[in-house]
Amino acid sequence: MNEAATPPVPRHIAIIMDGNGRWAQQRGWPRIKGHEAGADSVRAVVRACRDAGVEYLTLYAFSVENWVRPRDEIGGLMRLLQYFLERNEDELHEHEIRLRVIGRLKDLPAPVRQRLRKVEKATQAYTRGNLILALSYGGRTELVDATRKIAAKVEAGKLKAKSVTEETISAHLYAPDVPDPDLMVRTSGEMRLSNFLLWQLSYAELYVTDVLWPDFREADLQAAINAYGQRHRRYGAVS
Ligand code: IPE
Ligand code: IPE
Ligand code: MG
Repeated sequence: MNEAATPPVPRHIAIIMDGNGRWAQQRGWPRIKGHEAGADSVRAVVRACRDAGVEYLTLYAFSVENWVRPRDEIGGLMRLLQYFLERNEDELHEHEIRLRVIGRLKDLPAPVRQRLRKVEKATQAYTRGNLILALSYGGRTELVDATRKIAAKVEAGKLKAKSVTEETISAHLYAPDVPDPDLMVRTSGEMRLSNFLLWQLSYAELYVTDVLWPDFREADLQAAINAYGQRHRRYGAVS
């Protein structure tokens, strides 16, 4: 056969959207300006995923660790999130994209939480695409929450300790039906996971770019997808 096979497109991309503060700093602007510009990248990347045929996109928007940031930055981020949801809900409906949230939602301010729940509910029947926002999210926190749910079942006699398998753990995560990410992208160059999807990323391909998140647009996402297309996933086998 001389016809080259089409390179695979990841079914699920997870992104650590980093570098908003540095982007603003480079311009002598307050950090929140970087977060605002980052919201435009989110819109661009959601569209690019749709066009490329990516079914699931998970965005790390706020970590459990991020609560230590200055109050005004946190307040600005929460207001921005609220505004983002108001401004983009129509587009989710137009393209039948389901919005979901993973993380400790009870930590979020009530109006933000209520708006998130409302949009989640209004889009829950959609199957054309999935946008998952990680908010007040931590990979270890997620595993603690899963362990508590499993332990409660064991305590209640509904589950035997020796029947706990990898599938049991996966089934008790925040979004159990979502397949593990195929590709994890981090912007701004840092080579770390920062507590993102620790369980789910165990066999993901990693792609780190120096591009700061507010500069990351369609072409950058396409470059990540192209790089993924060249990878050889072995899953521990010989080939
Ligand atoms: C990522 O950008 C956004 C959040 C963590 C909320 P940063 O705010 O971490 O930007 P840098 O890393 O300081 O440049
Ligand atoms: C990771 O970025 C969290 C999000 C993108 C939401 P951070 O900027 O918080 O990560 P560290 O502090 O560099 O590890
Ligand atoms: Mg950062």
